[in-house]
Amino acid sequence: MGKDKTYKIAVIPGDGIGPEIVNEGLKVIEATAEKYNFSIDTVTYDFGGDRYLKTGEALPDSAIKELKQFDAIYLGAIGHPEVKPGILEKGILLRIRFELDQYINLRPIKLYPGVWHPLKNKGPEEIDYVVVRENTEGVYSGTGGVFKKGTQDEIATQLDINTRKGVERCIKYAFQYAVKRNKTKTLTVVDKANVLTYSGDLWRRTAKEINVGFPDIKLNFAFVDATCMWMIKNPEWFDVVVTNNLFGDIITDLAAMTQGGLGIAAGGNINPDGVSMFEPIHGSAPKYTGKNVICPIATISAGAMMLETLGEEAAAKTIEKAIIKATGEGHIKSLEAGKMGMSTSEAGDFLAKLVKEI
Ligand code: IPM
Ligand code: MN
Repeated sequence: MGKDKTYKIAVIPGDGIGPEIVNEGLKVIEATAEKYNFSIDTVTYDFGGDRYLKTGEALPDSAIKELKQFDAIYLGAIGHPEVKPGILEKGILLRIRFELDQYINLRPIKLYPGVWHPLKNKGPEEIDYVVVRENTEGVYSGTGGVFKKGTQDEIATQLDINTRKGVERCIKYAFQYAVKRNKTKTLTVVDKANVLTYSGDLWRRTAKEINVGFPDIKLNFAFVDATCMWMIKNPEWFDVVVTNNLFGDIITDLAAMTQGGLGIAAGGNINPDGVSMFEPIHGSAPKYTGKNVICPIATISAGAMMLETLGEEAAAKTIEKAIIKATGEGHIKSLEAGKMGMSTSEAGDFLAKLVKEI
């Protein structure tokens, strides 16, 4: 019998431990595909540090056009110890985010049962929210420059670009997400409007205007510094958080620790009308390369997000259930490298098996 649907997935394993974790992610996706009667058709791209060192280019010119032909992109990790910081990040990751107009960076913060985390008296009930990070503007825009470099008069500017269009589409997505989540129906705009008054005003005004179309959603505002405190002290206050690119980058690393760390935190770079890219939020961890010790759950979870976005919600849910069973019943002992109680590939096998059994 033929499969209901075939999804074309571009796979970018990337650097360091990237290939190892992507293998396990694909293993689990394949297991769900079989169960839910769809298939995936993958094309693997070798973008990353090794290719850059060989060819001198981070992405070939044809890459962007090619990537636009897929249903989704599955990314491992980018970052190579022999390549200067910034080249691969900007040349691969940010370039794909920008050129494919993946204007949302979606980061679910969810503590699963059995996962060690540092917040006392807070459990899975309290730590369950989503950060919607603007993903194509802000200080990441790359605008600005240097003047009189290397002299005592050197000036460096890095402009914080906030466009009405960019802010509006991001906030609208966040409102829609709060409706879809249907949890406490609260959207918190995180900013620094007490100092960054121009951009803060644009974000707050835009949010209030859009709120008119979403009367059931309660709109809150919070400063980013205070948000860092509350994410630790009262994470249960959050349902959907929306913020700019840099604040989102910073607070999601903090938030990731409260859900058990980078071994589990996943993200989606979403273009709701185009091609989206899914990745674990951790880096390429060069010192663990080839050791088969890294926890693949973040990448597996990113795979679930990818399937959900493709419309395979039941498959995504099943992967999440498998992760909850693996951590909640203590099969995976820790998310730290080398401490899982099994190897990277065994963890992938185990989750693929759970997916079939659930
Ligand atoms: C992330 C990463 C990237 C970012 C880096 C690698 C450019 O930290 O996805 O959070 O800053 O966006
Ligand atoms: Mn980051």
